[in-house]
Order: sequence, then structure tokens, then C-alpha cells
Amino acid sequence: MDYFRRKPLDRILAEGSDEAHGLKKTLTAVDLVALGIGAIIGAGIFATLGSAVSGSSGRPAGPGVVVSIAITAVACGFCALCYAEFASLVPMAGSAYSYSYATLGELVAWIIGWDLILEYAVGNIAVAISWAAYFRQLMVGFGVEIPAWMATDYRSTLLAASAVAESGVASLGPEAAVAWEAHLHHPVLFGIPVVCNLLAVFITAAITWLLVIGVKESARFNNVIVVLKLATLLFFIGVGVFFTKPSNWHPFFPGGLSGVWTGASLIFFAYIGFDAISTAAEECRDPGRDMPRGIIGSLVVCTVLYIAAALVLTGMIPWDKLKGTADPLAAALNYVNQGWAAGVLAFGAVVAMTSVLLVFQLGQPRILMAMSRDGLLGPWFGKIHPKYRTPHVTTVLTGVFVAFFSAVANIDEIVQLTNIGTLFAFILVAIGILVLRKREPERHRSFRVPFVPWTPLLGIVMCLFLMAGLPLVTWWRFVLWLAAGMAIYLLYGRTRSKLAG
Ligand code: ALA
Repeated sequence: MDYFRRKPLDRILAEGSDEAHGLKKTLTAVDLVALGIGAIIGAGIFATLGSAVSGSSGRPAGPGVVVSIAITAVACGFCALCYAEFASLVPMAGSAYSYSYATLGELVAWIIGWDLILEYAVGNIAVAISWAAYFRQLMVGFGVEIPAWMATDYRSTLLAASAVAESGVASLGPEAAVAWEAHLHHPVLFGIPVVCNLLAVFITAAITWLLVIGVKESARFNNVIVVLKLATLLFFIGVGVFFTKPSNWHPFFPGGLSGVWTGASLIFFAYIGFDAISTAAEECRDPGRDMPRGIIGSLVVCTVLYIAAALVLTGMIPWDKLKGTADPLAAALNYVNQGWAAGVLAFGAVVAMTSVLLVFQLGQPRILMAMSRDGLLGPWFGKIHPKYRTPHVTTVLTGVFVAFFSAVANIDEIVQLTNIGTLFAFILVAIGILVLRKREPERHRSFRVPFVPWTPLLGIVMCLFLMAGLPLVTWWRFVLWLAAGMAIYLLYGRTRSKLAG
């Protein structure tokens, strides 16, 4: 039964308080809310929103996307409460991984840790790709044309080519038009066509460097860009609201209920991130008080902004005009002839996505580090830099992984894979709350989920509902990923675990 051996909570807590060997404890509640908003507002609202509204990968939600957003917010709210209880109970680097090690046992903990790579590293691949698209647009505004082959991937060029063969160049959306341009014009090296997203590689490398230098410096940098990104969304809402036409809201549900459902499964990406706050618990001054505030506070702020932005967006431009747009909010401003505002927005979006990249590149290495401390990954993964006190080895490793795939992958497929993996992690966390309330009801929790078992149960049901809205091929990819993880555990972690023998 050693698959279910559990790491005692007291041991987890003792390791976390061993400050001499751990990380610096400098973050405050305000830093955490900023960290949360830094993770949440990004490619989801600036790019995925367009796919959800127009149905680029499924049925369209249309203006009904506001219902998709509300559904997703409620699902995330239930799970956020669970995360907050766990974070106040187990203030350790490693997030859901550490929580589940204490509650559900080693096998589930490993699966979660492995699954979280989909949320953090794979999620960042999507954000880096979207960053590159907005950055290229921004540069066009400054009169600098970055060659298309440096800002897209090879597969997207093949997809664009087959779309052109089928329905002609005029059928391409702006995103596919960039891929088509790269298909036509690219360098060839030793007979191999060179089409890869160098812009995405560039931003990933820059972020990685920043994080190797240190978390406090990075958090301060994050606070500044969070203010800028909130201002960007408010700017969009403030300008756009004057150009809304009620006729654009008819029909409100062009894709019916299933459009709203698909939209919710996609727009979930825009919410991912509040849970990333919990990975910084070990670097937090008073996690018991500040963690729940940080997680729930940032979730509420983002929901209000998203609903307002989606209403304004769909009021400004007919929903079907957003098909194949990489930058829907800027496209809407252009549509109402406010090019200047679109330029300002593109700048804000680039800043916003930079901070998302920062938070996830911060979280992923700390999860790997926690897994290494437990012996489930090699000791090499747990190294802390002697001067900067950051997990530099895993930070660089994460950077290389994200950079490589962002150079070659397709954003829609990456978003769907990230969503399914993250939803699964949320489900396991909610189950963990139920298990721990039964097993250790007396343990002190500075924050308690209200209405247990109903809150976690509703969180589980809603996450399953969102997972079911994703395409079958995404499910297969997810199952393959988990199977690969299982193989690694059986071959390595099971015998090397610190809890073994
Ligand atoms: N929520 C993050 C984003 O939208 C992942 O970019």
C-alpha cells in the first residue's frame, strides 16, 4: 500500500519553517494579491476571449460569453476557497502538490505534481505565443515589421496553407494571415524551412533570467505591471463603452447553450492563476492570514473586470467578426476606428502577459523543487542558488521547456491542454479538503471553507462539467501525459521517495 503513504503534515510544516535552508520570507498580502492578478489577467482575456466568443474551436458563445465567464467564476470560486484553506494549513512551496502529499498520499501527489506542469509550464507556452502575437502588432504600430516567420510556428503555416487551398486567402483571419505570410516567406537552412516563434523564445529567456536573480526583485517588478494591466482593462472598458450598440447583443446566444458551455471551458484559461499564489506560501510573512485574502481578493477583482470587458467587447463588434483574431480587444477598437486606443491596448496586453509569464515561471520551479526535496525527482532539481537563494536549476529548466515548445506549438491546442490539466488539479484539491476534514478535523486552520462538504463537491462537479466541454483529442493528450507521469513514478519516484523504506 506504499502508493498511498502520506507525508505527515507536521513534517511538511517543519521543513517549511527551516528558514536557513528554505527561501526568503518577504511577501505581504498586497504582494500576494498583486501576484494573483499578475497571474490571472493575461492571454485569457486578451486572446482566448475572442476564440470563446467567435467559436474558433467549437461552437460560438457570442455575447453569451458573459454567462460562460460567470459559470467559470463560480467554479473557480468554489475551488479558490479550497485552495485558501489548504494554503493556510500547509504554507509550503509546491501548491496542490504539497497539499495532496499530506492528504491523499504519494501517488496522487505525484500525479498532481506532474499534472501541474500542464498548468504552469504548458500554460506559459500559450501565454508566450500570445505575447509574441501582440508584441508583433505593437511593433507594427511603431512602423517596425517583424518578419512573420519569427512570430509563428510551422504547424500553423501548414494549417493556413490548407485553409487557403480550400477557401482562398480572403477567408483567413488576421492570425492565420500571419501564418500564411510565414508560409510564403521564410529562410531555409540546410533544406529545412525556418519558421519558429523566436519572439516567444526571447520573452521566455528574459523572464527566466529575471527569476534566477531573485523573487523579491521580481515581486516588486510585478507590482508595477499589475497596476498597468488593471489600467489597460479599465481603459478598454472606459473607451469601448461609448461605442457599444445594443443591436450587437442580438442574438445574445448565437451558439445556444452548447456555445456557452464550450466558451466556459475555454475562458477558464483566463482564470488560471489565483492558485499560483499558493506556491509562494513559503516566501510569505503570515500565510495563515494573507493567503486566503490574496487568493479570493484577486479572483473577485478579475471577475468584475472580465464581465465588464466581455460585455463591452461584444457590444462594440458583431461576434462573428472576431473569428481568427489573435488580439480581439484591439480588433474591436480598430473596428470602431479608434486605432490610437488599439495601440495603447496592445502595449497594455504585452505588459499584462509579461507578468503572467513571470508568475508561472516563478511557480513551476518551486513545485519541481518540492518534488525533489521529497525524493520523487532527483536532488539536482532541488538546488538553491547560494547567492540569490532561488531554485536556479529548475528555473532554467522550465525556461528551456517553455521556450522550446512556444517556438513550435499551436496556441489553441496548448490552451485546451492547459485547461484540462488545471481543472483536474482543482478537482484533486477539492477532494483533498474533504479527506482532510474527515481525517484531521481538529487541526488548526486559519481559514475554513464554508459549507463543507457542499462547497468542495460543487467545485468538483463544476470542474468536471468544464472538462467535459473540451474536445476529445485534448482528453487523449491528457491521458497520455498522465500515463507518461505514471511510468516515471513507477521507475524512479516510488523507490527513491524519502518516505520509502
Ligand atoms: N490566466 C492566465 C492568462 O489568461 C493564464 O494568461
